[in-house]
Amino acid sequence: METYLLLNGPNLNLLGVREPKVYGFDTLQAIEEEVCAYGHAHGIGIDCFQSNHEGVLIDKLHEARGRYDGIIYNPGAHTHYSYALRDAIASIEVPTVEVHLSDIEAREGFRAVSVMKDVCIAQVKGKGKQGYKEAIDILLRRTRLREPGAGI
Ligand code: DQA
Repeated sequence: METYLLLNGPNLNLLGVREPKVYGFDTLQAIEEEVCAYGHAHGIGIDCFQSNHEGVLIDKLHEARGRYDGIIYNPGAHTHYSYALRDAIASIEVPTVEVHLSDIEAREGFRAVSVMKDVCIAQVKGKGKQGYKEAIDILLRRTRLREPGAGI
């Protein structure tokens, strides 16, 4: 069974109470459960991890090498400035989809920049928790296109 890592960065542990008008009323745990159920329904195992610490997230990305078939990653505010996390994604060769609950391009100017975008295979933004499921679809399509017999 393919397994994906669902990774969430700083402050996302406070989902549900943190600026609900921007990020919604669901807790991270509720979102993780929903995303895992969606993954399972598509034959995918999902491990969830959240940290507020850059180094811990870098270690988790390194550990993903050879262990996961894809990563669904909401880097939170690290998105906008962490070259260390960008380099970690670029180093591991595990296809990674960047997810944001809000539309980062429609908010403050500093949020419009993602230093992760061009090392990820796709960016999903502004679709709330649905975006995490869309990331699963993107990873699945990529794998299935690469299967023998897919014609490419
Ligand atoms: C976020 C957007 C970031 O700008 C912000 O710092 C977050 C959450 C989102 O999911 O919309 O923490 O990644």
